[in-house]
Amino acid sequence: MSASLSVNIDHVATVRQARRAAEPDPVAAAVLCDLAGADGITCHLRGDRRHIQDDDLHRLRQVVTTRLNVEMAATDEMLAIARKVRPDLVTLVPERPGEVTTEGGIDAAKNRRRLERHVAALRRSRIPASLFIDPEPDQVDAAVAIGVETIELNTNAYSIATTAADEAAAYDALVAAACRAAERGLTVAAGHGLTVRNVTPIAEIPEIIELNIGHSIIARAVLIGIERAVREIREAIARADVAFE
Ligand code: PXP
Repeated sequence: MSASLSVNIDHVATVRQARRAAEPDPVAAAVLCDLAGADGITCHLRGDRRHIQDDDLHRLRQVVTTRLNVEMAATDEMLAIARKVRPDLVTLVPERPGEVTTEGGIDAAKNRRRLERHVAALRRSRIPASLFIDPEPDQVDAAVAIGVETIELNTNAYSIATTAADEAAAYDALVAAACRAAERGLTVAAGHGLTVRNVTPIAEIPEIIELNIGHSIIARAVLIGIERAVREIREAIARADVAFE
């Protein structure tokens, strides 16, 4: 069966914040994604609140009936918010002030003790945690040691590869990391930079059971409508099923 799809609706809020206006509302987008067959909604509450706002998060929690995955930094401020909102999953991501988007995975190996404490605090509040990591063996092993049940593999290197050799190397790293993580009992998700054009091979990796896709869906939604944009990426993911048969 093909991987499930969680749609990241951050950039609906980006358009709204460009004018500090009331629309487009990311919560309305979440409902439309749900109707179009998304399996979940993802959003990133950034420290600088450049797109999703605290109030969006509270309203999303009330409206999302599938799964709400909230990406956040491992800070005390975000821990307190997670405890209030109670997402179905918190994905811990690195945040560098001024970055255009998440630039890489969290360095789980280097920040092991700090992340262990943060994940344990979430667990005490019965909030499952995931780590967004680069597809490297030591990052997978650190995630296991930290005690998360889920990881999200960063597909950015695969997405931005400009030569067949770079793409193959990035793909092989994703396959190896997904297998290593699944063998160690982790649930494996993936995302960053995925589009209708490049998602099918990633969906063909059987260990990857969920894909988080944002920018390309919202970018296409501006032109062709959000329901169509969700449906077409679902179809691209489902094409992986042919490979499984
Ligand atoms: N996963 C994580 C951890 C992210 O930070 C992002 C970007 O917000 C995504 C997935 C989605 O990436 P994109 O918007 O390129 O589809």
